[in-house]
Amino acid sequence: MARLRDAPGGPQVLLRAFLGVTFTYAGLQKLTNRNFFEAANPGSIQSQLHASITLSPIGPLIRLAAHEPVLVGLLIAFGELAVGLGTLFGLLGRVAAAGGMAVSLLLFLSVSFNTTPYFYGSDIVFFFAWTPLVVGGSGAWSVDAALEARHARERASAGVPPEQQAPDLDRRAAVRKAASALTLASFAVVTAAIAAAVGRMSGASLQTSGAPQLSPPSTESPSPGSSKGTAIGLAGDVPLGGAREFTDPAQGIPAYVVRPSESSYVGFSAVCTHMGCTVGFFEPALQFRCPCHGSIFSAVTGEVLQGPAAAPLPSIPIEKSANGTLLADG
Ligand code: FES
Repeated sequence: MARLRDAPGGPQVLLRAFLGVTFTYAGLQKLTNRNFFEAANPGSIQSQLHASITLSPIGPLIRLAAHEPVLVGLLIAFGELAVGLGTLFGLLGRVAAAGGMAVSLLLFLSVSFNTTPYFYGSDIVFFFAWTPLVVGGSGAWSVDAALEARHARERASAGVPPEQQAPDLDRRAAVRKAASALTLASFAVVTAAIAAAVGRMSGASLQTSGAPQLSPPSTESPSPGSSKGTAIGLAGDVPLGGAREFTDPAQGIPAYVVRPSESSYVGFSAVCTHMGCTVGFFEPALQFRCPCHGSIFSAVTGEVLQGPAAAPLPSIPIEKSANGTLLADG
């Protein structure tokens, strides 16, 4: 313990281990979870990007990213894996920590920006947790430290004083660092491929699911002299005690229409009021459940049945026209 405490950067080892394991796990978890890339799933990257567009201060940027959701999901997953392994092994420690800071900032601005109070969201905490590693580098028990020690030994045995340049020795040290980075990158790619294959074979999946999409509305107008609102589909397509997904025409966000009784239809935003994930419909209990942190909402009133969400799901006015078309936002 005293050895670790006295080593340069020794006290950072525990922080490095935690951040390294967490980011490696986060990257692998995304690659293992096949639902992360399935647009119809409420926990997918597609759903999360879509939900963040209206809630995030960088909404226009997310709207652009939403055109290539799989690529964005892969970049996030591989980015987290690279940051995690680089931090865990202490290779290019400052670069990995700066990458971790960037990922945390991105997640804070997109996913957890609306968390109240702000310290309930983990991304802002992760952002600042990276600071000591950005400033101090990997520290003790790291590949960086081992490579630097070897470089120093070589210079000492060649009799080169610290302030003097030794181009050959310095170049050799740089090549060794690049080779180590390449080895770790190859290890990351192989690990990612195994994780993705295992995830698909084991059928890992989230426990919540969405509801089928409402069939596209007819192109005819709802009915003469009928009510206001935008046609979203046919009332007959929503089963009694069931729900259908649709895109709220007013806000462009995912939403649900629920039919709690024979003649009543209610609509709710599907964007969780905690941190913006897309909720799934859980038919047996007539509830919406959030796959991210477990909030549960009534699918009849939208009220919170279980936190951490504190606010109900915003309701969307739904009306059934005389010819059986459902109209939203009237
Ligand atoms: S986003 Fe956290 S519970 Fe839904």
